[in-house]
Amino acid sequence: MDVLIHVFVGLHIIGIGALLGGFLTQMKAMRAGAARMVPAMLHGALTMLVTGVALVGLNQANDGSLNNTKIAVKMALLIVILGLVYVKRDDERVSPGVLGTVGLLTCANIFIAVLWV
Ligand code: HEM
Repeated sequence: MDVLIHVFVGLHIIGIGALLGGFLTQMKAMRAGAARMVPAMLHGALTMLVTGVALVGLNQANDGSLNNTKIAVKMALLIVILGLVYVKRDDERVSPGVLGTVGLLTCANIFIAVLWV
């Protein structure tokens, strides 16, 4: 079970790579007001959701030692991220405020994950 949990943490981190990496590729365009939500961001956010829910299930089935408040906060932030990325996925240009919010919330979730015990 521990190996499976670690595999899913690995997949969870691949999801962060896609979501945050997609955002970082748009930073230069964001300053010019020409940024867009790239497909990697949507796929990364969906990966975060699926692997996150799977990790909750696997941890519950294992020893159940999860901080539920932390998971709820991460889930709430991810729903906002996913909503923004999904709604704006076909827009040619996305405002710097919207794209910046996605980047900021993604970074917030990373620090919540690693700092909140
Ligand atoms: C952008 C959104 C998210 C980011 C950046 C993120 C980030 C991370 C990171 C860096 C880890 C590994 C570090 C650690 O184990 O403490 C992790 C673990 C984990 N994440 Fe996420 N996560 C996100 C969304 C979610 C969601 C939505 C869920 C649940 C529905 C979730 C559930 C978990 C669980 C259960 C673990 C392993 C157990 C633990 O907290 O220690 N994550 N996450």
